[in-house]
Amino acid sequence: MSEVVTYQREGAIGVITVNYPPVNALSHAVRSGLLDALKQGQADAEAKALLLVCEGRTFIAGADIREFGKPMQEPGLPTVVEAYENSDKPIIAAIHGTALGGGLEMALGCHYRVALESAKVGLPEVKLGLLPGAGGTQRLPRLAGAQKSLEMITTGDFISASDALQAGIVDAVEASSDAKAAGEQFALKVIDEGKPARRVRELTDRIEADKGSDVFEQFRTGLQKKARGLFSPFKCVDAVEAAFQLPFEEGMKRERELFMECMESPQRAGLVHAFFAEREVSKVPGLPKDTPVRDIKSVGIIGAGTMGGGIAMNFANVGIPVRLLEVKQEALDKGLAIIRRNYENTAKKGRITQAQVEERMALIQPTLAYEDFGDVDLVIEAVFENMGIKKEIFGTLDKVCKQGAILASNTSTLDIDEIASATNRPEDVVGMHFFSPANVMKLLENVRGTKTADDVKATVMDIAKRIKKVGVLVGNCYGFVGNRMLHQRGAEAIKLVNEGATPQQVDKVLTDLGFPMGQFAMSDLAGIDVGYRIREERRNAGENIPPSWMDKLAEQGRLGQKTQAGTYLYEEGSRKPIPDPKVDALIEEFRKEQGIEPREITDQEILERCMYVMINEGAKILEEGIADRALDVDIVWIYGYGFPAYRGGPMFWADQVGVKEIYETVKRFHDTLGGDQWKPAPLLERLAKEGKTFGSL
Ligand code: 3HC
Repeated sequence: MSEVVTYQREGAIGVITVNYPPVNALSHAVRSGLLDALKQGQADAEAKALLLVCEGRTFIAGADIREFGKPMQEPGLPTVVEAYENSDKPIIAAIHGTALGGGLEMALGCHYRVALESAKVGLPEVKLGLLPGAGGTQRLPRLAGAQKSLEMITTGDFISASDALQAGIVDAVEASSDAKAAGEQFALKVIDEGKPARRVRELTDRIEADKGSDVFEQFRTGLQKKARGLFSPFKCVDAVEAAFQLPFEEGMKRERELFMECMESPQRAGLVHAFFAEREVSKVPGLPKDTPVRDIKSVGIIGAGTMGGGIAMNFANVGIPVRLLEVKQEALDKGLAIIRRNYENTAKKGRITQAQVEERMALIQPTLAYEDFGDVDLVIEAVFENMGIKKEIFGTLDKVCKQGAILASNTSTLDIDEIASATNRPEDVVGMHFFSPANVMKLLENVRGTKTADDVKATVMDIAKRIKKVGVLVGNCYGFVGNRMLHQRGAEAIKLVNEGATPQQVDKVLTDLGFPMGQFAMSDLAGIDVGYRIREERRNAGENIPPSWMDKLAEQGRLGQKTQAGTYLYEEGSRKPIPDPKVDALIEEFRKEQGIEPREITDQEILERCMYVMINEGAKILEEGIADRALDVDIVWIYGYGFPAYRGGPMFWADQVGVKEIYETVKRFHDTLGGDQWKPAPLLERLAKEGKTFGSL
């Protein structure tokens, strides 16, 4: 008898219970257990109907993702679903939590579905580079029609129980917290009314209604933009369309073929890596799960600019009161007006109500006085990158903040230990690096200083979850993980243009790789003055940073999108970069000044120089322990810089390209181009020589 799936009769109902924590995923043991339990139910003469229900926090959340890429062990999921559908005794699925992927497909194989009001259902396979592979693309359309099925299957988004009821995916929704009881009640009704085993595969109304519809082409066109570079969303459309073109059995075969194509694709491997990496980053090596966290009930934020305002919104969105400080009333008023405008825009799109706008605004209290920070539990400083100013602020915070308050800096590059040295409580000081726009980007790069206390580290990781971000804990160095690698890429991109490439060519190579924008479009978004100020700061600190054409742009006041001109031009109200001949001339002039003879640069050289310089830096970051694991680097890049998740993050991507190939190219660049950035990281060299990958560390 399976331990993870049990059969037990209660009156006239045979109850099949799955109990496989944490999410009842359909592992081999669960699949076999489901078949065994079904056999028992069918053989049990007293059972007039069967009920499929799950223990724990959720109904079945899908196939067991950990089994992907390994040889499939029989029985496969389609066989299990089919066996349930073939049962002569009616089977009812009782859904609580989330019925996802293979979980929803199991439920669709049952003859009736009842869901708790709080439940959600979805087919999120596309988010893992897959499509539903156990009949989801063939059965869902028979209940919900083409439009809804395409929406659910190509986005992978979950829908609420009431939505599912309206779409015909579930038969009843119960305002209860007990799925088993709700299911039993429904099953008794089925028995009393003598309802038959209603098989979804036999339903034809919705198929007939949408046959020949142009909705499939509409989805394909829409996906060209929304799913640029992705493989599986298009296969999802093909599979759903098959439900309308082929008899059920043949549709199932088509689904399987397309599913296997997706399963073999490198995008599936990248997305599954990203799924687990996102969960692993919260488990910080050396920081036990039971490390206490400090109670954060209120937050103070210094700086009401773009960053400070965005950070404030994150806290207000989850009901945590914020005090927002500026030195001048005018700046405070401007900052609050921008926050209000952002909220109003969200309300206009129908994502929040006007009442929520007011509630959130009321949670953000403006102030001009540091004394108002006396009782806050956490302060986040978000002023511009200047060590002197930051140290002065932290000196003040040390005086006004209560003992035990966490003092955080949103610095994107500067030394947390030096900032902490301005206080008498370095154990309470930490970096909390948000990414712009701070209310949107999901990454929170938390930076531990040498003396940061463990409970402070645990608290900032916990806060990331509370404000619905992905927190990654990293070590202290110039630029931490993300910007340290970005700066190498940025410097290389500028040099490529010095040598003969155009900014557009560099950007296109990066967007072709899957980045949402290229290096120079990104500088325009962030503000060219940001990079300029950082370079100046480093020059003042004695570093040898050669002049560049980007400095000239900044000096001319071409600061990017905010001045409608940077490397590109921008039309009023538009974010679309337009190449500018004036910039070409400026670059040309710069080359002449520097005596550079421009040469033809291939896309391959751009790719290698922009990406391998990052990988080499990533290897140094790992070696120095700034990032604990390659997957930490991957998540920083996926959530902070839009690295395409389907490539798994830069270090995962490097493993796919081949560590040896990258090492040899880095070495060649070191010999030909020179510079510390091309000095092969000893870790890269070691892995290449041992034939190992970053993932193996
Ligand atoms: N297989 C294996 N492990 C899974 C899993 C799955 N399908 N889903 C979640 N887990 C694991 C997580 O890795 C995590 O493990 P950890 O504690 O060791 O880190 C644990 O379950 C809890 O997951 P979360 O931290 O994500 O918990 P939440 O409560 O925040 O979310 C969830 C729960 C909504 C179920 C979320 O985990 C989720 O979205 N899971 C993926 C669901 C999915 O994609 N299903 C489709 C799979 S593909 C498929 O079914 C193919 C079929 O069509 C043939």
